Amino acid sequence: MESSAYHHDLALLEWQIELGAFEAIGDVPVNRYEVPAAVEKPKAAVAATPAVAPVPPQARADAVAIAEQAAAAAATLEELRAAMAAFEHCDLKKGARNLVFSDGIPGAPVMLVGEAPGRDEDRAGKPFVGRAGQLLDKMLAAIDMGRDRAEAPVYITNVLPWRPPQNRDPKPEEIAMMKPFLMRHIALAKPQVLVIVGNWSCQALLGKRGITRLRGAWTEAAGVPALPIFHPAYLLRSPEFKREAWADLLSLKAKLADG
Ligand code: URA
Repeated sequence: MESSAYHHDLALLEWQIELGAFEAIGDVPVNRYEVPAAVEKPKAAVAATPAVAPVPPQARADAVAIAEQAAAAAATLEELRAAMAAFEHCDLKKGARNLVFSDGIPGAPVMLVGEAPGRDEDRAGKPFVGRAGQLLDKMLAAIDMGRDRAEAPVYITNVLPWRPPQNRDPKPEEIAMMKPFLMRHIALAKPQVLVIVGNWSCQALLGKRGITRLRGAWTEAAGVPALPIFHPAYLLRSPEFKREAWADLLSLKAKLADG
């Protein structure tokens, strides 16, 4: 390359960088003025593309305040379920088939709080009915408990009552706006102990994650003694942690025996 061409190209590059074009997105230059109209996105398609607008802080605060009012007004679990079904501020509701409220025996001494419904739960309208739920049932049965056992029942709910798309992680604003309902749920169900199942439940109820550190250590949530445990979905992926899960189940059993 001749020196003048080199300096000319270099100057052009520097000019583009100054304009903010500092990342290559293709190997071949495309002259956008020459792209045929047919391959351009039709206007309607552009308009239909959902805007990824961040939720303004005021809207978030309003949704939380509305949730707090609705939750506080519920005097029974049935009223709480109805209040959640009528809550229109969580976008997850739009993509879900069912509200997943709870399963098991209301008023049971143990209340488990999972994260959010998956595909099977969304279909059934009940928490923990898929593979992870089947493992959870086996774990509970190992300490002679179960959602259908009248003599040693449990009650089960989730932080979020609607399935997040593609089972993605809950968003902070989703947790924040559904938390008033969860707190009221716990107050109305009056468990002796809470079992906090998995990281996102720890985030919602304890304000922190790090289940490997938190699990097995009794703490308090919503004014109730609470035990974080590994999520059964995690145990399905990492069965080597079943030993710790077993220790936590024994700790739960001992706590109940202590009264
Ligand atoms: N995982 C959860 O945390 N909750 C369910 O209901 C199902 C899977």
